[in-house]
Amino acid sequence: MDYSIETAAIETLPCDCIIIGVYQNQQLIASESTLTDNLQQVISKVIKRGDASGKVGETALINVIPDSKVERVLLVGLGENKPLSTKNYRKALSAAVNSLKKPYIKSIACGLADVGVEGCNLQWNVRQIVEIFNDASYQFTALKSDKETESKLQKVIITTPDSGLALAQSGLIQGLAIAEGVSLAKALADLPGNVCTPTYMAEQAVELGKTHPGLSVKILEESEMKELGMGSFLSVSRGSRQPAKLIALEYLGGKKDSKPIVLVGKGLTFDAGGISLKPGAGMDEMKYDMCGGAAVMGTLLAAVKMQLPLNIVGLVPSSENMPDGDANKPGDIVTSMLGKTIEILNTDAEGRLILCDTLTYAERYKPDVVIDLATLTGACLVALGRVPSGLLGNDDDLCNALIKAGESSCDSVWRLPLWEEYQEQLKSNFADLANIGGKDAGTITAACFLSHFAKNFRWAHLDIAGTAWRTGQFKGATGRPVPLLSQYLIDRAAS
Ligand code: BES
Ligand code: MN
Ligand code: ZN
Repeated sequence: MDYSIETAAIETLPCDCIIIGVYQNQQLIASESTLTDNLQQVISKVIKRGDASGKVGETALINVIPDSKVERVLLVGLGENKPLSTKNYRKALSAAVNSLKKPYIKSIACGLADVGVEGCNLQWNVRQIVEIFNDASYQFTALKSDKETESKLQKVIITTPDSGLALAQSGLIQGLAIAEGVSLAKALADLPGNVCTPTYMAEQAVELGKTHPGLSVKILEESEMKELGMGSFLSVSRGSRQPAKLIALEYLGGKKDSKPIVLVGKGLTFDAGGISLKPGAGMDEMKYDMCGGAAVMGTLLAAVKMQLPLNIVGLVPSSENMPDGDANKPGDIVTSMLGKTIEILNTDAEGRLILCDTLTYAERYKPDVVIDLATLTGACLVALGRVPSGLLGNDDDLCNALIKAGESSCDSVWRLPLWEEYQEQLKSNFADLANIGGKDAGTITAACFLSHFAKNFRWAHLDIAGTAWRTGQFKGATGRPVPLLSQYLIDRAAS
């Protein structure tokens, strides 16, 4: 898709449809008061008739405008004539782009960049337009014979007043980078487990490195992991015919001596549960258990595209979790790379088993901070639903920075306590740690488990089990938390 910024009057731009915002008090957004009289009359007639109430997200398409070069006008409701909340602004943008999924709409001009949004500037607005329009135009067709997509949109022109050109342009660069990262994460995650195996993920990472010289990629094979002593990680992949991979991506855009931000993403390409087999209903969705890894790859891509002056490392432990004659059995005890022994009381709590060794491995990078992201616990869905990702960590500054980044990117997180009282639940009669903490506080005890392997650095954990994909009719990956992490990196680069 081709995005551009224009300062010319919206009605002069050649396209299939122009998008104009209308408030509940029947006024248009200020910068559109320059529309020609003819167009204004048509629009006000439609509004007066009640076809465009101005309610947030309500749309009305005017598909014939007499005596005008403008092909179509989409009126989008913005609510009360005052700065919109970020949520309402996003709602209006989604409504606009979704209502234009028509075979005859290939190019549009969007006049919604210059709308007042609480606490936001033009840069943020433009970025949201790109992110939301891109998200709405995404459709998974890789494995369909019919590659037709609902949206035929190819060209988006975003209009802005002259004075806002620089801000709009930097918003465009950020938006494009983040949108690409989100698309990559979604495209990888939507692939089924028989295509997207650990080997496939590693190949995609290598490919990413080839197309982006700023990104170097290294793949650790099982033999190397064995030498490193990753007994916990390898115990999970032993039950699968697919060899595990540890993918390491490095982007060194910062000063030579500046410590890297390390992102660790769970890349479990299919989670059957292992011997503690999951129930059959909905098990297909466990192909999404690699969303953390996909989001790490997407975030690295966004960082490269934005040329952020930071050093960033992405680590993706990738494996399947299958029932097999050689799989982990409940009660098995394995030794992690750190040396701690782990009693595997439930083989379905495998994410923490592959993450713990990767966290230990992360120490070699002498990280400034480590952030891991994982579809780790069903309990996170129970606690927080599909709205925020769960956040836990051992450093308040880091957690607060992520909360702030979540708010400004509208990819929110909610912090849960990581108090030592919960550690009791992980005691084992036979090993240093048990891999599950019983039925209470499942998201917290999972993070407590990981915390043992994150003692030597500032660390935050994002449980994205509820936010990484949608279920039901619109089943599919969301690309979260790529926007959140990209925002965190943008904020870090600016500080
Ligand atoms: N990948 C799952 C977590 C998950 C479940 C994500 C449902 C999204 C939706 C993880 O590996 C898992 O199976 N966790 C177990 C942990 C339990 C055995 C302590 C869970 O949440 O049931
Ligand atoms: Mn599991
Ligand atoms: Zn899992």
